[in-house]
Amino acid sequence: MAEPARAELPEGKAERYAALRAEIAAVIAGEPNRIARLASAASLLAGAFPDRFFWTGFYLVDETKQNELVIGPYQGTLGCLRIPFDKGVCGACASRRETIIVADVHAFPGHIACDSRSNSEIVTPVFGEFGALVAVLDIDSKQVDAFDAVDAAGLEAICADLLTHD
Ligand code: SME
Repeated sequence: MAEPARAELPEGKAERYAALRAEIAAVIAGEPNRIARLASAASLLAGAFPDRFFWTGFYLVDETKQNELVIGPYQGTLGCLRIPFDKGVCGACASRRETIIVADVHAFPGHIACDSRSNSEIVTPVFGEFGALVAVLDIDSKQVDAFDAVDAAGLEAICADLLTHD
């Protein structure tokens, strides 16, 4: 059974994202290590929407390979280790450099089923301070059609802080 969201977070979704953004920024402030920042964000994100977020984590652009993502910090069941840019929702997000919402992953051509219990997902790009794509944030849900424009705006705002501030 999913655990309840942290009690101190507001009920409304947009308000909860705003509080979460401030919480993540406060936790990672002054920490220069990229993995420390992303791992902390993955933990706080997963705990903020435990009923909807089944898998929450980052795939990193592999600087040693052309157009390939490699698994980064995450919360959830075992994720695929590598995703080429031309595969899956994460790959599509990395190539297009924009947020992608998929209401039914089983209808998405090339979707990679790391866990067959996932039914919908949202993937948001994470850029470094000079605008290079550094990672994507992948959130999967057991619910069909779990994500909307409020999620996209909330997650994009959080991702904008992850690698670009102090
Ligand atoms: N759903 C992703 C694959 C990664 S996992 O589900 C953790 C995709 O199709 O890009």
